[in-house]
Amino acid sequence: MGWLKIRDISNITLARRNILVRPPEPPPEMLWSDPSNSIFTGKTKIFNIPFYWNYNELTNPHLAIVGITGSGKSYFIKTFLTRAALVWDSNAFIIDWAGEYREWVKSAGGTVISLGKGSYINLLDTGGMTPNNRIKQIIRTLEILTDINQYPEQKRLTELAIEEAYKKANFKMDSIVQKDSSGTELIAPTLKDVVENLEKTYKRGGYEYPAELQNSIYRLKQYTKTGQDFFAQQSTLDLDKLTNSGLVSLDLSGLPDEIFRALAALSMLQFIKEKMRAAGWKKRKGIQLFVVLDEAWKIAGDENSDAVMIVREGRKYNFSLIVASQNPTDINEAIFSNVGTTFVFKVKFERYLNYIQGTLNFSDFIREEISKLGVGQCAVNMAFTTSANYPSTFLVQKIEGEEPLVEYFLDVGSVLTEEERRDVRVARSVAIEREEMRKRLRMYGLNESQLEEISSLFDKKNKHIDIVSFVILLQRYGLARNKITALLKDFGVADSTIINIFIKADFKVHSATSQDIMDIILEE
Ligand SMILES: Nc1ncnc2c1ncn2[C@@H]1O[C@H](COP(=O)(O)OP(=O)(O)O)[C@@H](O)[C@H]1O
Ligand SMILES: [Mg+2]
Repeated sequence: MGWLKIRDISNITLARRNILVRPPEPPPEMLWSDPSNSIFTGKTKIFNIPFYWNYNELTNPHLAIVGITGSGKSYFIKTFLTRAALVWDSNAFIIDWAGEYREWVKSAGGTVISLGKGSYINLLDTGGMTPNNRIKQIIRTLEILTDINQYPEQKRLTELAIEEAYKKANFKMDSIVQKDSSGTELIAPTLKDVVENLEKTYKRGGYEYPAELQNSIYRLKQYTKTGQDFFAQQSTLDLDKLTNSGLVSLDLSGLPDEIFRALAALSMLQFIKEKMRAAGWKKRKGIQLFVVLDEAWKIAGDENSDAVMIVREGRKYNFSLIVASQNPTDINEAIFSNVGTTFVFKVKFERYLNYIQGTLNFSDFIREEISKLGVGQCAVNMAFTTSANYPSTFLVQKIEGEEPLVEYFLDVGSVLTEEERRDVRVARSVAIEREEMRKRLRMYGLNESQLEEISSLFDKKNKHIDIVSFVILLQRYGLARNKITALLKDFGVADSTIINIFIKADFKVHSATSQDIMDIILEE
């Protein structure tokens, strides 16, 4: 005979066990608020209730979005921002790491700022701050992005040289307003002036630690060299307009590397945060500005990033931060555990599931569902201000977007075997959603003008291209065979078919002059 044993079980464990206690959805009144003051996203999975997002009952208006690549994060953000602009007249500032919002922003009538392609930010712009405060911010940015923290002497030298540059430009170190005696706005110095100041000190000689001086110069020169001086020229954008110009995206894909991108993103967040504070508290319906950080893990992950500050203070200014990442652990905990709403798209890795479940406390039922979600399907967690006796995580059938889906087809008819051709069940073409195809091709290294060329080919040819021609085209763009193979596999083409495609492609290329290739593709 066994002993009956009483065990301690935490509430959380208990809640996770049984989904039948209560349906896993909040009551309708929490999901369905006034459509003129909330944003429609999609219908709930279990009771089919339209879910209108609003932050009135939530701890704050910030959103975190997680999910594997291709699960629907960016699509959701676009849908969400489009509706927010309609409902609340909200502005948005998107920090676009990979340039993936560019076309959408353009087609939505917004402004695209392409850094590295004709647009500049002067790092020494004060953006409504006193030069003294701006210097602190610049140094903080250098601390996040470079190793300057390990060299206190270099930090001091850099600080002094920036200060000197402001003073030479007649800036008052403790003033927000910078005007000359006739009332004209003063022009901010740039990093080039700072480097010049350091170089002068070096040439003058007699400084106790010349190596420290040299290293400080070297560090800053990374940002002042011709062709890399994106942050060392006068700004071409009007910082005052960033937060109230509708839809604005800062395209960072033209910058040479991650450090440059992070430098731009961190600086913009600093300017935006200052603008937010300066604008002060205003009574307003809905969100004034959404700041979007998509896949910007360096920025979302660092606790000294102003993203954290926007999360802490945003609510009272009606500013909302949207962070999206394929890896939830890349989002700083101060952000992830404090956002009012989390949208969880498909997540596969156990480690990430553990982390999300640990933070949001949903049931094992929801966890299981999350690992099986399709594109555009998600779980939503909301942090209500009132202690709720209903589940705060529920499932949404599908984010209902506004854009029509456009499909492109790769025709495989010419590479099927006789037997396959006779079999009516074998598909004659592979369908790929346009944006998905562009994204993949971009991932495998094609540039924007090549993507444009491919898109216009599909459009010209009624959305169908013969798969052999497609492969020849990719080879012409310099894509290696192993990459093309991987790409075709991503598109769901069978291995045996891929081999046939290459054989046919080689044959065609050898029997044509290079000028003919484009014609072959167009004629096909
Ligand atoms: N809710 C949805 N409805 C229709 N298509 C969607 C939906 N969500 C995503 N897609 C499509 O799926 C692809 C991947 O979505 P995307 O948002 O770029 O994924 P992620 O940003 O998570 O990598 C895109 O082509 C997008 O248009
Ligand atoms: Mg994305």
